[in-house]
Amino acid sequence: MSYTFKIGLAGLGTVGISTLKRLVSMQSKLSDIAGHSVEVRAISARSRDKDRGIDLSGFKWYDDPVALAQSDDIDVFVELIGGDSGPAEESVFAALRAGKHVVTANKALIAKHGNSLARLAEEQDVALNFEAAVAGGIPAIKAVRESMTANAISRIYGILNGTCNYILTRMEDDGLSFSECLKDAQRLGYAEADPTFDVEGFDTAHKLTILTSLAFGTEIDSESILIEGITSISPADIAAADELGYRIKLLGVAKRTATGIEQRVHPTLVPKTSSIAQISGVTNAVVIDGDAIGSITLAGPGAGGDATASAVIADIVDLARGLAIKPLGRPADSLEPFSQSEIHAHEGGYYIRLRVNDMHGVFASIATRMAEQEISLESIVQHKKKSRFKAEDVPAGLDKSQDIILITYETTEERIGKAIEAINKDGHIVAAPQVIRIASGV
Ligand code: NDP
Ligand code: HSE
Repeated sequence: MSYTFKIGLAGLGTVGISTLKRLVSMQSKLSDIAGHSVEVRAISARSRDKDRGIDLSGFKWYDDPVALAQSDDIDVFVELIGGDSGPAEESVFAALRAGKHVVTANKALIAKHGNSLARLAEEQDVALNFEAAVAGGIPAIKAVRESMTANAISRIYGILNGTCNYILTRMEDDGLSFSECLKDAQRLGYAEADPTFDVEGFDTAHKLTILTSLAFGTEIDSESILIEGITSISPADIAAADELGYRIKLLGVAKRTATGIEQRVHPTLVPKTSSIAQISGVTNAVVIDGDAIGSITLAGPGAGGDATASAVIADIVDLARGLAIKPLGRPADSLEPFSQSEIHAHEGGYYIRLRVNDMHGVFASIATRMAEQEISLESIVQHKKKSRFKAEDVPAGLDKSQDIILITYETTEERIGKAIEAINKDGHIVAAPQVIRIASGV
């Protein structure tokens, strides 16, 4: 084995350190697979002095990841810093300009700069691999980009954020609060450095826009997407959904419609009997509907050091073997511009929770407003809060509000919006209405 495939690794956090440890401990096996030696030569992180539980003295240290990216010591630059700007952006562009292959787990970066990075990689005749950027350890990119080429894909959707799925699962199973669950997800290394990206749906959106591009052959468009996170989901919603036979999941959905491609990320009620409802904890799932294959589901760990390192290392070894695929699955110049469908045309059932004070006439008024928009109701139930008082005896100053839960049959986003606006104007509602879409065809 005279040739050595040389790796430079920037970022030694949750994913970086798991990747480094595995590259070292599996070096002999990985070299056998590649047919020549595969070695980490140089590393970079913010703090040189941090104890990372591994002897780093055998690797050349770079304070500046850009200098590492341009170094003659390496064939591939592995970016595990994170963020769509700053050192991650600068070092990845620098590596490609210097003619180095790049492997990254950074979905924020690919979602924002993926089109231009793909073009640059092609111009430089190098690879840009990002398997770990979507759904952690699940080989979702390979499946869509390489294994589904004989299919016209009509829809791709899934649970794409481990932190959110972990939070929703633990809130439902263990009755824990949102903040307790988020703290646990952070302790376990699942959450982003800024967990707002997870819980507000941005991380799922980044991943979905990447999958959309690969599935539909369009440019990545991270502006044309509806994004709603899980911060408004309360224990009351989880309990009501449970009673009605549903679980709440944060889904990312991209599909072809008559008016263009729909990209949306939002909490969704899924029937407990559906396979997507069984995906719990940090597990992710990606469902791909293709005309030749039908529907396939890939499920596995969506976050965490070792699971993500598995995908990062697979990308590195592909390059060491000499396998390189165009970053977005086809020449970047042949990608179609993204054509967005209109979200108000979205059709489906809806869960609506309305907090009301005075029950007199409320049911009738809600039913009237729904009927005005031609919305049919599958069910309307009142959720009584546990109280030691009868409704008429609640002392002044105590909260007398009750929840009314509506489940609608299929209707449009636009009609739901108009009905809620009218109900709001009627003055019965005492808190912002909660509206959650119900999944169809899952
Ligand atoms: P961490 O925050 O744990 O690690 C980030 C690393 O980047 C740290 O080692 C940090 O150095 C280093 N770093 C920060 N700034 C600089 C800089 N200016 N120069 C050099 N190094 C720097 O992040 P994760 O490991 O969790 O995530 C890394 C990437 O992987 C992100 O893009 C993330 O979205 C993605 N990802 C994460 C997953 C997960 O489960 N955690 C799963 C899939 C993808 P220091 O340690 O010295 O502070
Ligand atoms: N924060 C991300 C998640 C990491 O929880 O899914 C994996 O991309």
